[in-house]
Amino acid sequence: MKSVELRQKFLDFFEEKGHKIIPSASLIPENDPTVLFTTAGMHSLVPFLLGQKHPAGKRLTSVQKCIRTNDIDDVGDDVHSTFFEMLGNWSLGDYWKEDAIKWSFKFLTEELNIPLERLAVSCFAGDDDASKDIESAKIWQDLGIKKERIKFLPKKDNWWGPAGKTGPCGPDTEMFYWKLNNVPAPETFAAEDKNWVEIWNDVFMQYVKDENGNYFEAKQKNVDTGMGLERTLAVLNGKENIYETDLFLPIIEKIEELSGKKYEENQKAFRIIADHIKASTFLLASEVEPSNLGRGYILRRLIRRAVRHGKQLGIKENFIAKIYPAVAEIYADFYP
Ligand code: ALA
Repeated sequence: MKSVELRQKFLDFFEEKGHKIIPSASLIPENDPTVLFTTAGMHSLVPFLLGQKHPAGKRLTSVQKCIRTNDIDDVGDDVHSTFFEMLGNWSLGDYWKEDAIKWSFKFLTEELNIPLERLAVSCFAGDDDASKDIESAKIWQDLGIKKERIKFLPKKDNWWGPAGKTGPCGPDTEMFYWKLNNVPAPETFAAEDKNWVEIWNDVFMQYVKDENGNYFEAKQKNVDTGMGLERTLAVLNGKENIYETDLFLPIIEKIEELSGKKYEENQKAFRIIADHIKASTFLLASEVEPSNLGRGYILRRLIRRAVRHGKQLGIKENFIAKIYPAVAEIYADFYP
């Protein structure tokens, strides 16, 4: 499957379920001063998650471009990147756990034809702030996910938000795919086994965290979901990593051409260069300029890291600007 097709399938599916398609917001958050970059689809929706009426209604869906740099040192492994796209659907005080989980399941198993044998889920284990999410686990079980494939995990794993210090948040249920093609998925799900790749997260945003770190019941119960486009695309194409998809290959080919080196023999450097140049292209397009402060510093750091890995590959010339067109080729249609 191509990335274009996966984006469209997702939007069509949720549109058919009464969601209005909203455009990707800027990478520079407009409605959430608590974060430097848009790291998830929910940032532009914060006021609406807190109860303000959204002009497009109570059911929304989008493909959101995101930057996350907290995992920057993991870039180069199979699944991490600083730039990624998130497919999301939202209920702003409308449907709740049952519909959210049912639709996630339907999309995965019927639209994407992902076999049940390769799926596992996690649910919130409960603590002093919120109770164990037995309800979600029961919904998954009724849909056909075996008990052994449902794991209850604590807040550090199964709670999302707030993205900054304060704001909407809540317990979540995450969906994992067994990525190995030549080893069958174990009967029992173990989240620490990295062959289980998280592909989608349904957050039940029913709390608001305040400045003192306390959680309060929100005025409105929302659903906030995020599916990783790159990861899902990889698994649908039988790939164990996100780099061997149409969202990266043209960039990797360009790096091969400029360096005279093979991707297979220099995977980590190629992946870092490809991701960082992609992220910096999107930041430049969002009018961030390299500097030694805040967003500009992050942009500078991304470019600098790409340059360093390029030099280590033996590229002598100024190569960064020669790679940007490959990024544009991949994304220009969706992000004109
Ligand atoms: N906001 C949630 C996430 O980023 C869906 O995982």
